[in-house]
Amino acid sequence: MSDPNEVLFQVTNAHLNTGLRAFPVGTTRTSRVDPMEGVSYVGYSVKELAYHDPEAVVYLLHNKVLPNDEQLAAFKADLASRATVDPQVIDLISQLPREGHPMEWFCSALFFLGMTGKTNDFREDALNLIARTPEVVAAIFRLRSGWGDPIASKPELGLVENFVHMLGVPGGDNKALTSLLRTFYVLHMDHGGGNLSTFTGKAVASGLADMYASMAAGMAGLYGPRHGRANQDCLNFVRKVGSSDPAQIEKFIREAIANKQLIYGFGHAVLRAEDPRATIQYELGEEICADDQLFRTAKNMREVAVRVLKENPKISNPYPNVDAVSGTLLNASGLTDSDFYTVLFGFSRVVGITAQIVDERTKLRNGKGVAIYRCKFIAENQEPKSL
Ligand code: MLT
Repeated sequence: MSDPNEVLFQVTNAHLNTGLRAFPVGTTRTSRVDPMEGVSYVGYSVKELAYHDPEAVVYLLHNKVLPNDEQLAAFKADLASRATVDPQVIDLISQLPREGHPMEWFCSALFFLGMTGKTNDFREDALNLIARTPEVVAAIFRLRSGWGDPIASKPELGLVENFVHMLGVPGGDNKALTSLLRTFYVLHMDHGGGNLSTFTGKAVASGLADMYASMAAGMAGLYGPRHGRANQDCLNFVRKVGSSDPAQIEKFIREAIANKQLIYGFGHAVLRAEDPRATIQYELGEEICADDQLFRTAKNMREVAVRVLKENPKISNPYPNVDAVSGTLLNASGLTDSDFYTVLFGFSRVVGITAQIVDERTKLRNGKGVAIYRCKFIAENQEPKSL
C-alpha cells in the first residue's frame, strides 16, 4: 500500500446508513470495477476473458496470472481429482423441502459439503469447493425439476462440460448450453470486493469460520432480490412485458415507473455505463437466439428503458446491468425455470469469493491476514439514563 496516512474518504453524517456505499474498507487482488469500463480480472477486461477457457480464468483469479498450456492441463487434472462429493451430501439435498428456494438448497448444500469434506485449510477448501460445486448444483436442478436421479459425475470433462453432462436437460442441446454456460460462468465469477455476497463471505471468514460456512453466508447474501436473485426477477419482468414491440415496451415501463416498480436489469451501485457483462450477453444472444421473442424484448428494452429512465435526472445509472439479458439466453438454451438462475450465478461467484477469501486470510497484510471485520455503528438515542 502507498502512504498509510493518505486520506481516502471523508465520512460525514450523510454517509451513515447508506450500506457502506463507496466506503473504502480494504484491497482486492482479484478484480476491479471501473464505473465506466466495468469489471476486469487481474487487469484483463472481462470482454477479453469472456470466451476463455473457464478453468484458465479460475486459475487467473486464484494465482493472479494466466496459465500456460502445461499449467492449465495440470490445474484441470488437479480440479478433477478434487471433485469427489460425499454421497451423503446428495442424499441430504434430496430430503430438503420442495417449498425451499433453490438458493436455500444451495446454502444448505454448502454446509453439507463442509460437514463431510472440509480440510480447514482455506486454499485447499477453495479448490475443493470449486471442483465439487458442479455436482451439487446439477443435483439441485435434477431433484427439484423432476428430471430424474442425479447423473454420475465425469470431472475429467471439465467444470462446465461436466456440469452440463450432469444436468442432463431433457431434450436439451448440450453443445449449445455448454458454450453459453462457459461464458456465463466466466462473466459472473467476480465483481470487485464490495458486492454483498463477496463482502459477506469475507466478513464471515474473518471470524475464522471455515470456507464452506463463509460461502454459505455469502450465498445467503446473493439470494436477495437486490443482489443475485435479480436475474430471476429480471426474466420474469421481461416475460410480463409480453411483447417485443418497442411501443408496448415503453408503455409497460412507463406504467411500472408510475407504480413505483423496479425496472429490473437496469442500474448499478457502482457502474455508470452499460455493464460490459451485459454487452457481451447481448452480442451472444444475436448469435444463439436472435429470433427468440424474449431475447428480442430484452434487446429492445436496452434502448427503450435507458431512454425512459434517463428522463429522471436523479437516476445515476439508467443502463443495463449483468442481469438485463442473461435470463433470456438461459431460457432460450433450455433452462426455462428462472428459479434456478441465481444458483447458476452462485455456481460461478464461488470462484471469486473463494479467491478473495484465500487472499484475505493468507496474503494480505504481509500474510498476517485481514483482521476480524468490526465496523462502527453510531448509537442513536443512547445517552446515559437512570431508571
Ligand atoms: C455483482 O456482480 O456482484 C453485481 O453486479 C452487484 C455488485 O457489484 O454490487
